[in-house]
Amino acid sequence: MSKPNHIVILTGAGISAESGIDTFRAEGGLWEQYPVEQVATPEGFAADPALVHQFYNMRRAALKSVSPNAAHFALAELEKGLESRGGSLTTITQNVDNLHEQGGAKNVIHMHGVLTSLLCQYCGHRWESHEDTSPEDSCIACQRIAGPRPDIVWFGEMPYELDRIDYVMSQADLFVSIGTSGAVYPAAGLVSEARRRSIKTLELNLEESQGTSLFDESRLGKAGEIVPKWVAEVLSQ
Ligand code: NAD
Ligand code: APR
Repeated sequence: MSKPNHIVILTGAGISAESGIDTFRAEGGLWEQYPVEQVATPEGFAADPALVHQFYNMRRAALKSVSPNAAHFALAELEKGLESRGGSLTTITQNVDNLHEQGGAKNVIHMHGVLTSLLCQYCGHRWESHEDTSPEDSCIACQRIAGPRPDIVWFGEMPYELDRIDYVMSQADLFVSIGTSGAVYPAAGLVSEARRRSIKTLELNLEESQGTSLFDESRLGKAGEIVPKWVAEVLSQ
């Protein structure tokens, strides 16, 4: 693979697994513990907002006891290393944790939102919050009771920052997918987008994903082990 300079990385739950955050579709994963329809859809939120607030309070609280792992730190090093040679790294993540930022990454796109942000369902105001929420809360801007909802993209909703994602894909010379099953679109469609643009593609994942056959190269292993190795290769080129 020639020396990459503008890399776009897509990450999924697998990159945070070694930090102790459950993935979604593994044995005993999040979607086995909580029905998707009840906690990750607008209909579920309308039907039982207290349950959904409780689900995201639990996930937000869990953030306080986890730390970035070697894969997150390696990607932050890669971002610095590429920038020092006039290149760039954009990390598009499906994850709603903030471990990329805690690991030092600066150029991160949260296409599914982030747990530490709230959104008012009435006035659209967005603000940072690390505390528990409930249906009795009011929006800090319009003061409407029950305004705040998790700033998370649920099934059936449009992902965030699609225009910015399209732009960074148009500038990339390497697309790398790390720790995602390739189960959910449009994230799972990015590898096909890369191929259409004749961008080299690499998958780093614990096991084969639904998209493995679409990648030029696929390396299997734990992100905490294979991502630092790959970053060292790129920075030594
Ligand atoms: P989709 O069709 O993109 O996703 C459907 C996927 O949902 C399936 O492939 C399956 O993986 C999963 N799914 C559905 N029911 C499930 C169940 N009972 N158990 C486990 N998995 C189940 O969904 P969509 O409605 O088109 O999604 C639109 C947007 O919402 C996309 O951007 C998607 O990535 C996003 N999204 C975000 C979250 C989140 O928790 N942030 C969850 C789901 C989807
Ligand atoms: N290292 C690398 N990959 C790993 C590791 C690890 N230590 N542990 C698990 N994986 C891989 C699994 O093999 C699997 O392919 O990470 C992937 C996790 O897949 P999912 O649980 O489906 O999570 P993800 O792909 O992020 O889900 C995508 O679906 O529910 C929606 O919006 C939600 O963002 C989520 C999206």
